[in-house]
Amino acid sequence: METHIQNLLNKLSIASTSIATITLILLLLQIPQTCIPPNISTTKPHLKFPSSTCDSPLLHHHRHLPLSKKNSRLWSSNSWQKQLLSYTHFFTHLKLLHNHSRVLCVSAGAGHEVMALKNMGLEDVTGVDLVDSLPLVRKADPHNLPFFDGVFDFIFTGHLSEALYPIRFVAEMERTVRSGGVCVVVVAECGDQQVLEIVGLFRNSSFVGAMNVTLIGMPMTRIIMRTR
Ligand SMILES: *[C@@H]1O[C@H](CO)[C@@H](O)[C@H](O)[C@H]1NC(C)=O
Ligand SMILES: *[C@@H]1O[C@H](CO)[C@@H](O)[C@H](O)[C@H]1NC(C)=O
Ligand SMILES: *[C@@H]1O[C@H](CO)[C@@H](O)[C@H](O)[C@H]1NC(C)=O
Repeated sequence: METHIQNLLNKLSIASTSIATITLILLLLQIPQTCIPPNISTTKPHLKFPSSTCDSPLLHHHRHLPLSKKNSRLWSSNSWQKQLLSYTHFFTHLKLLHNHSRVLCVSAGAGHEVMALKNMGLEDVTGVDLVDSLPLVRKADPHNLPFFDGVFDFIFTGHLSEALYPIRFVAEMERTVRSGGVCVVVVAECGDQQVLEIVGLFRNSSFVGAMNVTLIGMPMTRIIMRTR
């Protein structure tokens, strides 16, 4: 009987030591308290969101935690989802993209268009802007793109009209898109004269077409240029 109790005590002691060790390890790893992936991914499994913050905490630097939390909150917001859907419709109707297209989004802001393209199945999408918005948009000057000539098949921007130097901005798009590639510009809805002015900025492309569209709830004009 006594040995039985002794065995039991030994087992309990091993168990409590193990629990203490696990607790210590967990504390050392600083597992975040909220280990749930963004709820959006459960309702919309086709949307590719980064996996939960619980994945290999050792691999992530601590400053990434607030960023991923901030992002999951932003990306699950109503306005983000609406804009995402609008960009998805926009790019789908273009019928110019394939899964293997190498795409650049210039002045991509928070990266709605980048996420829309990635969710459509495109594997090589890059977003740049003066201010980064990781992981979708990285920092680069649209007037001096950090890419080699002709590396993209397709370049999109919705912010040409805000460019400080539109000629330089367009020249960089034309330089980094491959010959035969496509640049698509979206501006606030405008008349034919303004379309001609924008087309004139492209020194090395032919005009494919202009069309009035609705994008993120606003009337816009979409201009397509093909590089020579
Ligand atoms: C990419 O491929 C998936 C299937 O692998 C397909 O469903 C999707 O329509 C493709 N997207 C584009 C833009 O071609
Ligand atoms: C777009 O709408 C404007 C009026 O707001 C019109 O002047 C212009 O011709 C339209 N452009 C196209 C390509 O239909
Ligand atoms: C236009 O494109 C051709 C062929 O890709 C290239 O050789 C030429 O330098 C380009 N011109 C300008 C002004 O970018």
